[in-house]
Amino acid sequence: MSDLFSAYDLAGLHLKNRIVMAPMTRSRAVNTVADAQTALYYQQRAGAGLIVSEGSPISRQGAGYLFTPGIYSPEQVEGWKQVTRAVHEKDGKIFCQLWHVGRISHVSLQENGAAPVGASNKKAENTTAFAYDEQGQAARVQASQPRALSTQEVAAVVQDFARAAANAVEAGFDGVEIHGANGYLIEQFINAGINTREDRYGGNSVEGRLTFVLEVVDAVVAAIGSSRVGIRLSPFNRGFDMPVFDDEAQTWLELARLLSGKNLAYVHLSNRKAIINNTNGKAFLEAFRKAYTGTLIMAGEYTKEEGERDLQEGLIDLVAFGRPFISNPDLVARLKNGWPLTAFDPAVFYGGGQEGYTDYPVYEEIADQAAD
Ligand SMILES: Cc1cc2nc3c(=O)[nH]c(=O)nc-3n(C[C@H](O)[C@H](O)[C@H](O)COP(=O)(O)O)c2cc1C
Repeated sequence: MSDLFSAYDLAGLHLKNRIVMAPMTRSRAVNTVADAQTALYYQQRAGAGLIVSEGSPISRQGAGYLFTPGIYSPEQVEGWKQVTRAVHEKDGKIFCQLWHVGRISHVSLQENGAAPVGASNKKAENTTAFAYDEQGQAARVQASQPRALSTQEVAAVVQDFARAAANAVEAGFDGVEIHGANGYLIEQFINAGINTREDRYGGNSVEGRLTFVLEVVDAVVAAIGSSRVGIRLSPFNRGFDMPVFDDEAQTWLELARLLSGKNLAYVHLSNRKAIINNTNGKAFLEAFRKAYTGTLIMAGEYTKEEGERDLQEGLIDLVAFGRPFISNPDLVARLKNGWPLTAFDPAVFYGGGQEGYTDYPVYEEIADQAAD
């Protein structure tokens, strides 16, 4: 029987349960290098069947938020080694999320104050990066005016993804998750409202708009092997100034079909609520499930009961929880035993030190204190 607590074979990788810790940026890596505190944070959460790390920039150009631990320099690879070792010590599994933010960045984060790059020069209106303001303070600032990547530069970004994947394996990760979701660079190419290019990555056809993501997948697979590669997508995402476009459902279903042929570890949908709140949302998910025949993960405001139901109905194979994992390091044990959950606090999601990061107690500690 497939329930949340049964084991799962993820392309040859044994997961002790079907609960995934969703990738979550915490912006606590000073100098963009994961450290002992990062290792402790992930180790505390190693009860998950699979952890997907916070987004890890594949290059300086790919960063849009301060204090995010990258995966492009030797120091960053060394930093992540502590994390993967700590998770493996607790019999956990961890994938590295490979991230290029594209236009959701700011000149203060880019080399020599350059403009961020995107699929086109369309700016993300009313959207912030986490960067330096005019006073030099870390702050949420409007994303800068981007410039469109040239055709040759796109090929170079594809190679950055492949190199980052090899780095992730060197750092001890069990695999990588390509971040194709939430309005970042890959989705900027997929969305016809943003991708106004006229080259072969161009916006006039579904095929053109899917070229970049498929090249990234192929390059990453060539670097580390298909069974170690997952990808995250967010169909119908409207965050980060992503517009509605024609043939939207058809685009995502075509991508699902094409990814099916690539023998990946999984596809991960990040935004269950945005998908189901669409007209025909449930039908779309069912069509996606049919089109993509491999392991499917989904995240988005799941409760234990909803997760169990979606597993039972065969809609997905693994259930991802995001925010509940921030405030419940022992989330799996709490769900299993029916113990109450500690509420999460958005004020401590990003930045700062150990407060709201590694200081959340497990339930047994809370219960012991109550009994004292
Ligand atoms: C603090 C925070 C940081 C996040 N960072 C990322 C990220 O780096 N990469 C990503 O794909 N999604 C990110 N997300 C989205 C989550 O992975 C997840 O899809 C979303 O929170 C919905 O799941 P939930 O309702 O269980 O929290 C983030 C969400 C939160 C709350």
